[in-house]
Amino acid sequence: MYEWILYTHMVGAATWIGGSMLLFVLGITLRDKAAQQVVYFYIGPLYGYFEAAVLVVLLVTGSYLYISNGFHSNPEKFTYELGFYMHIKIALVVLITIATVLHMIISLKANGREKSFKEKIIGRGTSLLIFILNFVILWLAMQVRTIL
Ligand code: HEM
Repeated sequence: MYEWILYTHMVGAATWIGGSMLLFVLGITLRDKAAQQVVYFYIGPLYGYFEAAVLVVLLVTGSYLYISNGFHSNPEKFTYELGFYMHIKIALVVLITIATVLHMIISLKANGREKSFKEKIIGRGTSLLIFILNFVILWLAMQVRTIL
């Protein structure tokens, strides 16, 4: 059971990170305004709901892995280093989840029309934050796995 949940967690991580990398690169390279409006209008909501579902899968499977390892009920079993990497990872996952929710609200609200200045700042800021956090979370996950 544990192995399958870990496998699902890793498929989720690959899908989540791959998806956000692609959209980030698309956002930087697709400069034509008219093309941007059409592309985002059609793929934006689909991509948003898809990624949100994958994030839920990561949160649920991650919580299972966490509890199964006894992080929750048996903390003294673990070294300071392991607890440190694990809990920084969880804190950053909370941050990435907040950034994702904010990004989704702004993007869905403005879908099909020009974004206001404030919406642009929040939209771009959250997508940059998600992009950077993904690399850090992946590195932390690797450290946790290596110690476990
Ligand atoms: C954006 C969200 C997340 C991403 C991208 C992610 C990514 C990953 C990856 C790639 C691994 C495997 C690392 C390796 O094999 O080297 C992993 C393992 C793990 N993750 Fe996550 N994770 C996320 C959220 C969470 C959450 C929310 C929790 C806990 C509440 C969690 C708990 C764990 C645990 C305990 C392991 C180690 C399992 C083992 O090695 O047996 N993850 N994660």
